[in-house]
Amino acid sequence: MKMLFYFLFALGGVFVAEVLADSCAVPSQAVPVYRAFHNAIGDHFYTINNTEYAAINTANGYFGEGAHFRVFSTQVSSTVQLFRLWNGGDADHFYTIDTTTASTASATGYVQENTDPMFVYSSQVCGSVPLLRYYNLDKTDHFYTISPTEVDNMPGYEFERVEGYALPLTDSSSSSGGTASGASPPAKTNAAIPLSFEYLYSLLSLALAVAYL
Ligand SMILES: *[C@@H]1O[C@H](CO)[C@@H](O)[C@H](O)[C@H]1NC(C)=O
Repeated sequence: MKMLFYFLFALGGVFVAEVLADSCAVPSQAVPVYRAFHNAIGDHFYTINNTEYAAINTANGYFGEGAHFRVFSTQVSSTVQLFRLWNGGDADHFYTIDTTTASTASATGYVQENTDPMFVYSSQVCGSVPLLRYYNLDKTDHFYTISPTEVDNMPGYEFERVEGYALPLTDSSSSSGGTASGASPPAKTNAAIPLSFEYLYSLLSLALAVAYL
């Protein structure tokens, strides 16, 4: 009787793990994030709205730099909102997944701009890569990229933190791998949780089953 119970317990563990592993959104659901730069005011701007991207380019003196990574336009499983904030005084667009920072940003002169919300993974799952946040104090400019070498030729930009996990522009060719370059360790692409979790869980349950036979 007990063995049956633990056997079902183990099966349940595998089932839960499978459901979690399957919870990755289809990468093709992700949309490119367009980047524009205004040299005179020193501001990098990011949007998934290509109408807005085109408009800010022509009317506001921004120079389009294209798309470098992808996010989701709706909150899919395991994602959090990447809030967009704007400081008119410092001419700085600032993006963060930190809800406290976002909600208290007005204290530092920022306003939330929540049109066209963006969502990124809160941990490195589903083929995502770290979205690196840099800051240039002289230009009061926040800069975001998934390429750790991009700031090599950008003096004054200091690394601040990982601001969630975005998807590379193109899916990795195979079902394994998932890193854009050889710089970071290979990451599991299709598991929301480490695969070992489900095996550990099952092994533990089976061990208990055997122990209580
Ligand atoms: C995209 O941007 C344009 C221009 O700012 C705006 O009129 C439009 O409503 C935006 N689209 C969406 C889906 O938010």
